[in-house]
Amino acid sequence: MCGIVGVLGDHEAAPILVEALKRLEYRGYDSAGIATVNSGVLDRRRAVGKLVNLSDLLVHEPLPGKSGIGHTRWATHGAPTVTNAHPHRAGQVAVVHNGIIENFRDLRAELAAKGATFVTETDTETVALLTEQHMKEGLGPVDAVYRTLDRLEGAFALAFLFEGEDDLIVAARKGSPLAIGHGDGEMYVGSDAIALAPLTNRITYLEEGDRAVLTRTSLEIRDAHGSIANRKMREIAIGSTRIDKGGHKHFMAKEIAEQPNVLADALSHYLPIADDTISLPGKGIDFTKIERLTMVACGTAFYACLTAKYWFEQIAKLPVEVDVASEFRYREPPVSANTLALFVSQSGETADTLAALRYCEGKARQIVSVINVPESSIARESDLALPIHAGVEVGVASTKAFTCQLSVLLLLALKAAADRGTLSAEELADHISALRSLPSHLNAALDEEDAIRRAALSLSEARDVLFLGRGQMYPLALEGALKLKEISYIHAEGYASGELKHGPIALIDKHMPVVVMAPRDELFDKTVSNMQEVMARKGKVVLISDIEGINEASEGVWSVIRMPSVPHVLAPILYAVPAQLLAYHTAVAKGTDVDQPRNLAKSVTVE
Ligand code: G6P
Repeated sequence: MCGIVGVLGDHEAAPILVEALKRLEYRGYDSAGIATVNSGVLDRRRAVGKLVNLSDLLVHEPLPGKSGIGHTRWATHGAPTVTNAHPHRAGQVAVVHNGIIENFRDLRAELAAKGATFVTETDTETVALLTEQHMKEGLGPVDAVYRTLDRLEGAFALAFLFEGEDDLIVAARKGSPLAIGHGDGEMYVGSDAIALAPLTNRITYLEEGDRAVLTRTSLEIRDAHGSIANRKMREIAIGSTRIDKGGHKHFMAKEIAEQPNVLADALSHYLPIADDTISLPGKGIDFTKIERLTMVACGTAFYACLTAKYWFEQIAKLPVEVDVASEFRYREPPVSANTLALFVSQSGETADTLAALRYCEGKARQIVSVINVPESSIARESDLALPIHAGVEVGVASTKAFTCQLSVLLLLALKAAADRGTLSAEELADHISALRSLPSHLNAALDEEDAIRRAALSLSEARDVLFLGRGQMYPLALEGALKLKEISYIHAEGYASGELKHGPIALIDKHMPVVVMAPRDELFDKTVSNMQEVMARKGKVVLISDIEGINEASEGVWSVIRMPSVPHVLAPILYAVPAQLLAYHTAVAKGTDVDQPRNLAKSVTVE
């Protein structure tokens, strides 16, 4: 992961770098650092932990200079210490890096044999030392970097700064994204365009293997073979994006609360006001030509796919395979020519999902992505990218992106059903009208926050929590457990209700809370039987259901959370809200870092 940034500006670089790093902190927050060149002198400041520690350090030890690079770290090689923090420096060279240099041990041995000494445990230090070595051998900074790049294996986005060079940054990308920002007499580089948004909306994305030489007034990009590459500059629309908590205590709270509005907006992009059809951008998808759907994602996006499998199979009668990207990419699964390969990713940069997409290139009939960042690598490499319009999501635990992903996937399943003739025009109209009412149901779910907070207070005392669901609510149980463990650090597991008796029931005792997600649907009675099995063993049940379900089955349960009654198919989207709020309030009760939980990062651009 990690976020990198660079600036060749007309003002002091340090505050600009820190501001840009703030926007990249979602990529990691184990340490942060910046380096600048001031009248030829290269210097750096680094601090362990959140960016605020670096800001504090800069108050006491300012770093002048109008040229600089910066880094926020998610540790891969070496503990989060100041020594291991970027920028790494060797002689005249400073470098920041996102990714992993896979052959760094070989390079390290080679450099050590030539007398180099290492002070860090990182793979990145090798890059600085190798470049310095090339400069000692007589190469200028640009050629020295190019020679280094030719030796590197793995994934990287890199930005280099040099002693004695006030007007030069060299940058490169292979596997990890990198954007160049164009200012007026200024030039920037960043892991994504959001980092550069306050500075410029004119962006050039580097492509695989590209290397770039930046000065304040020029940009030269070469491809992996060294030929000049003409990459298009685009004006992107995120410049005005405000990133604030909107009066909430945490970004996560804000992002949960804004779901009704965000979802209404997302739906409006796919549902024309005038009629009951579903409109996809560009060439769309012709589902009459599709015989199989392969869905691939990671984390919360994977659970969105698992939920959508029920919809595609039940409503559109389309066989679906769902896989986590890190498994899919190495399993070498056969992909038949009439397969639609569908990749779901909030960031659009997740390394495993991107690799899985590339595996499907030339095999699948069409590559479609469901993404939140339209300029992302996954979006750009898809035949068709379907934005979820969730807006910037800052909390590391994904919330509004999940419900928007689910909504877009449900729309796709309905479109597939209409194309394949498994849904009449009337049935489609009913589903669409139900979807249009979803935002108001989400509001009603949010109104239950007090009851959820009370339940969360009890959950915060637990050591382990089990989440149960059946059918399309099973992936929701998985998502509920993931949310809880991510931000409250309580061990939680999601299980298919019917699987309870095949193992997890052994864990049940009077200390074990079990959250049961059970709208009053055709599977309700079966789930309730499993719930009774829990209560018979003194397990404490938190029942999340609608009024009908609660009236029928709440006797003896520990806690009840009431959801509005909705058409069956919408329940997973609606029940995401109590799952998110339960995790949120449990974490708040425990006093953990809700928006930036330990060890995690929002965008995972390493394997
Ligand atoms: C990380 C994040 C999760 C996210 C997952 C997939 O683990 O912490 O919230 O669901 O990556 O990310 P993507 O951007 O591909 O949806």
